[in-house]
Amino acid sequence: MRKFLVTGALGQIGQELVPALRESYGGANVVASDIRSLPADAADAEHFEVLDCTKPQQIEEVMRTHDVGCVYHLAALLSATAEDKPQTAWRLNMDSLYLMLEVARELDCALFFPSSIGAFGPTTPRDQTPQDTIQRPNTMYGVTKVAGELLCDYYAQRFGVDARGLRFPGLISYVAPPGGGTTDYSVEIFYQAIQTGRYTCPLRPGTRLDMMYMPDAIRAMIEVMEADPADLSHRNAFNVTAMSVTPEELADEILKHIPDFVIDYDIDPVRQAIADSWPRAMNDSAARSEWRWAPRYDLSSMTVDMLEKLRAKLEPAK
Ligand SMILES: NC(=O)c1ccc[n+]([C@@H]2O[C@H](COP(=O)([O-])OP(=O)(O)OC[C@H]3O[C@@H](n4cnc5c(N)ncnc54)[C@H](O)[C@@H]3O)[C@@H](O)[C@H]2O)c1
Repeated sequence: MRKFLVTGALGQIGQELVPALRESYGGANVVASDIRSLPADAADAEHFEVLDCTKPQQIEEVMRTHDVGCVYHLAALLSATAEDKPQTAWRLNMDSLYLMLEVARELDCALFFPSSIGAFGPTTPRDQTPQDTIQRPNTMYGVTKVAGELLCDYYAQRFGVDARGLRFPGLISYVAPPGGGTTDYSVEIFYQAIQTGRYTCPLRPGTRLDMMYMPDAIRAMIEVMEADPADLSHRNAFNVTAMSVTPEELADEILKHIPDFVIDYDIDPVRQAIADSWPRAMNDSAARSEWRWAPRYDLSSMTVDMLEKLRAKLEPAK
C-alpha cells in the first residue's frame, strides 16, 4: 500500500492524527514530518522526516522515497500568529500548499487540506453559516484559507487531484498545546482551571464560536478521506462543527466540576477582532449528508473527558 505523509506533524493536530493513522493503517505506513526535529527521547523516530514544506526538492524527495499516496498537509501559521507575521503566513500557508498540490499532481497522490472558520469574514452570515456563502475574510489567515480552498478545488477539477478538506472550528485538546489561534483560550482555560483555579480570558463574554473536541476532528479527517468520491458533491472545505460556545458557557461547565473556579477577562484586541469576524455557528449539513459526519462529543461530555485526561497528564499518580 502507498503511504501516508503528515506535514506539520508536531503541532496540535498532528500529534493526535499520526497515532490515529498508525492505528488504522499500520505504523510503517505513516510518515510524520515537521520543520522541527523530533525530541531526542521520542519513541517513533524511524518513521519521521525533517521536512520544510516551502522547499520543493525536500517535498519531492520525501514523497518519492516513501511512495506517498496521501498527504495530510497541516503545516501552516495559525490565525493570531498570522496577523502578527502576515508576510510569513502568506509564504508558508500558500507556497507550501501550492508545492504540495504540484507534487500530488505529478505523483497521483491524494491531499487533505484543513481550512477553518477563519475562511469566512464579517459579511458572512454568522448564524447557521451555510456551506456555500460569502467569503470575504479580513485576516491574512482567512485569505490564505479561502485561497487554499479554491486552489484545492482547482487542482481537483483541472488535474483530477483527489484533494479534500474540512473547515475546522476551534479545536480543544489535551495532548499538544495550541499553536497561536484565536480559539486557544478554549484549551488554556482547562490547564489554568486545574493548575490555578482561575483563568483570564482574552475574548469578551458573549463571544460565541464553533468548537470541536480533537477526537471528533481526527475521526472527521480520516472519514472524509475514506468517503466514496461518488457520494461527494463538495469534496473540499466541508463545514464541520460539534458545539457553539461562549467563554462564560465553557467556564460554567468547568464550574460543575471545579466549584471554586473563577474566570475574568482581559481582552486582546487582535484576537477579539478576529473572533468578531467569524461565524457563531456553522451549518454542517453538507458533511452530514454527503459522508455521514456526526460529532460524538458535546460541551458537557468534552468537558468531562478533557478534565479527566488533563488531570492525569498534569497530576501523575505519585
Ligand atoms: N488547531 C485548530 O484549532 C485549527 C482550526 C482550524 C484549522 N486548523 C488548521 O490545521 C492545521 C494544523 O493546525 P495545528 O493546530 O496543528 O497547528 P500548529 O501550529 O499546532 O502546528 C503547525 C506545525 O507546522 C510546523 N511547521 C511550521 N512551518 C513549517 C514548514 N515550513 N514546514 C513544515 N512544517 C512547518 C510547526 O513546527 C508545527 O509543528 C493548520 O493548517 C491550521 O490552519 C487548525
